[in-house]
Amino acid sequence: MILREWIKERFLSEELEMGMWWLGGFLISVALTAVAVNGYPQEDLVVSLPGQPKVWFRQFAGYVDVDEKAGRSLFYYFVEAEKDPDTKPLALWLNGGPGCSSVGGGAFTELGPFYPTGDGRALRRNSMSWNRASNLLFVESPVGVGWSYSNTTLDYRRGDASTAMDMHVFMLKWYEKFPELKSRELFLTGESYAGHYIPQLADLLLDHNAHSTGFKFNLKGVAIGNPLLKFNQDIPSSYQFFWSHGMISDEIGLTIMDECDFGDYTDESPHNVSHSCNDALAEASSIVSEYIDPYDVILDVCYPSIVEQELRLRKMATKISLGVDVCMSYERAFYFNLPEVQKALHANRTNLPYSWSMCSDVLNYRDSDVNINIIPVLKKIAQHHIPVWVFSGDQDSVIPLLSSRTLVRELAQDLNFKITVPYGAWFHKGQVAGWATEYGNLLTFATVRAASHMVPYAQPSRALHLFSSFVHGRRLPNNTRPSIDD
Ligand SMILES: *[C@@H]1O[C@H](CO)[C@@H](O)[C@H](O)[C@H]1NC(C)=O
Ligand SMILES: *[C@@H]1O[C@H](CO)[C@@H](O)[C@H](O)[C@H]1NC(C)=O
Ligand SMILES: *[C@@H]1O[C@H](CO)[C@@H](O)[C@H](O)[C@H]1NC(C)=O
Ligand SMILES: *[C@@H]1O[C@H](CO)[C@@H](O)[C@H](O)[C@H]1NC(C)=O
Repeated sequence: MILREWIKERFLSEELEMGMWWLGGFLISVALTAVAVNGYPQEDLVVSLPGQPKVWFRQFAGYVDVDEKAGRSLFYYFVEAEKDPDTKPLALWLNGGPGCSSVGGGAFTELGPFYPTGDGRALRRNSMSWNRASNLLFVESPVGVGWSYSNTTLDYRRGDASTAMDMHVFMLKWYEKFPELKSRELFLTGESYAGHYIPQLADLLLDHNAHSTGFKFNLKGVAIGNPLLKFNQDIPSSYQFFWSHGMISDEIGLTIMDECDFGDYTDESPHNVSHSCNDALAEASSIVSEYIDPYDVILDVCYPSIVEQELRLRKMATKISLGVDVCMSYERAFYFNLPEVQKALHANRTNLPYSWSMCSDVLNYRDSDVNINIIPVLKKIAQHHIPVWVFSGDQDSVIPLLSSRTLVRELAQDLNFKITVPYGAWFHKGQVAGWATEYGNLLTFATVRAASHMVPYAQPSRALHLFSSFVHGRRLPNNTRPSIDD
């Protein structure tokens, strides 16, 4: 800790006089000493990423073998809190899919400290990074996602249970690399299909704690954004969302509500519905149009063919809609496929025979696991007195707030939780940032106004406020008084 303060002071006073090359050498030598002092793995230290703005916090990236015999290994990216990393909590973030990258998604286009630049060749700061409130750990899970891999091809068949078990092993072995963080407050967060991953992992960690006479996970909270919780309830709410947002006609909306029985809706087999329902669903998708981003219905879309060409020509791909670069995902894919970026991140150490993509093409995930009802898992977590937050970007039509809100309320009833914060607006920078409610002092539901499925991507500042409140165990402010951003 002391050493890190010293590094900061040295840099602040001397950086102006130093040449870049010298600065680089200085950074390496001092950082390595720091590593030796607090036991972090120096081979995983990310000295600097290509085109990265200078920062004072450290980044680590590398592999943790979860099954040496099979050759199964998960890739992680860890970024220290911007200030006081030695006292700030640890938050794990997972993206969903199943099969999508937490490093590409969460870390580099949502809540991490950097976003790709418009030409896909460098990075810019995200000033609303969640590492202002916490140390952040991103993991490519399961194997087959991003740079996580297995030497055993059959391992690419994964499902909820095996994914959670690998993550349990991962956490134990990752703590061996970062022993200082073992006893740190741990928060588990994620979005979308991580509505499965995160609660199921929390469940395993709580089981571990119940059986372990030694090490116990210091789990302090679970927060999931636009989470898949109960498939046959989340799907119909997409159509309600289309209907209420004028994205389908009244006729089609009424037909779907009258004719479709979503009770037995499963992903693997066509659900048992009438012809008129199926016709209405097909018509609905054609009216909604493919020129809409279902994850944020108010943003404009990016045209991939144009953008990919521009990136190759070293042009800026950036296209701003409502303050957000809607082409960021293409800039990210370009950046992550640069060999020098992979080298700097210690990624792709086995030279995988395919290129980096946001969502995996090699993973063979059990389709039927989407039908697992997560509500009983959330119930168990709440019964262990672990705070559970469900938040929802209110412009998302894929897993809209409607079903999440209902599921949380029903869970509260099941738990016999009383309303401890009545449903009402919460504020950020003097504006309504969303609406929130709390049950039993433990279970929070909050919307984030004008946010997408990827809440921190479209509303970085509101998202940071929400996350910061969550890790500090604070309620969201129900008045307009200026609030602390950290
Ligand atoms: C996987 O195979 C590679 C290449 O044979 C080997 O270097 C590595 O140790 C194996 N195991 C893991 C976990 O990568
Ligand atoms: C579909 O529902 C009808 C009426 O409830 C029932 O008779 C039929 O067996 C169901 N079919 C399937 C494939 O579940
Ligand atoms: C891994 O590296 C090889 C080159 O060695 C490259 O062709 C491939 O696209 C990379 N894969 C990923 C997932 O980064
Ligand atoms: C706002 O929150 C405070 C503190 O929790 C509470 O006392 C007050 O009643 C709340 N006001 C409204 C309008 O809900």
